[in-house]
Amino acid sequence: MNTALLQQAADSVQRALPKANPRWALVLGSGWGVVAEAFTSLAVLPYQAIPGYGGTQVVGHAGRLVLATHRGVDLLIFQGRRHWYEGAGWEPVAIPIAIARAMGVSTIVLTNAAGGIRADLRPGSLMIIDDHINGMGSNPLIGPHDAQWGDRFPDMSQVYSRELRSCFDEAARRAGQAVSHGVYLASSGPPYETPAEVRSFARLGADAVGMSTVPEAILARAAGLRVAGLSCITNFAAGVTDAPLSHTEVIEETQRAQARMRALLIGLFDLLAAESPPAA
Ligand code: HPA
Repeated sequence: MNTALLQQAADSVQRALPKANPRWALVLGSGWGVVAEAFTSLAVLPYQAIPGYGGTQVVGHAGRLVLATHRGVDLLIFQGRRHWYEGAGWEPVAIPIAIARAMGVSTIVLTNAAGGIRADLRPGSLMIIDDHINGMGSNPLIGPHDAQWGDRFPDMSQVYSRELRSCFDEAARRAGQAVSHGVYLASSGPPYETPAEVRSFARLGADAVGMSTVPEAILARAAGLRVAGLSCITNFAAGVTDAPLSHTEVIEETQRAQARMRALLIGLFDLLAAESPPAA
């Protein structure tokens, strides 16, 4: 990865937001963007203003960085993400993590839309990511070792913090909502999977499939951040039913689940704010 570009991106955000002191970061994936409105916005930076980040072309991804605050704690909200399948290399995928790390963020929450493989993961379900399988055929850490991403061989035995997963459970309980747990498998995309691929993923132990999150989680964990992941199941994965898949359906399903997505995230950040209240 081009370390200089990542540094330039982080520097430009720090220059644009000199007073920012974020403790959390939130990456909002397909259809999750509106959830940003649940937080008090302090400043907005379009992705185009961040070197190497550019604009996102995917429908359902706004492409802006919001500095927000919640219960006295600042957070960075990445409203829309860049994907590996865009073919622009790992840098645009890594930039949010590099920015979060450089600005002293300790906890990052990654969200996405995913196809349900396990029978009970029906469209509209929210799934706390317990673990992942990298099915992308590549890894953002391939290349010369860079100490900002931890050891040469970073430990991945608990990518998704157990503590944060429990916080999500507690947030769901308080909101009176059902929430599922499962293993997320990332495929490179951009085509959706074939039914044979989905059957093979099920045998590997995957409960849901998508095209993101895993590289970000690997980088964030390697950099020593506490990581949480949350999927909105927007469709049955290919072949689970006969229905064809479409991005329009993905976005529509997230719209239906919006109130619950929002309640779960706000509930999590409420618990995190209470865990270590900001200095007076
Ligand atoms: N596969 C891959 N990515 C997805 C899916 C899917 O079924 N649904 C939403 N994102």
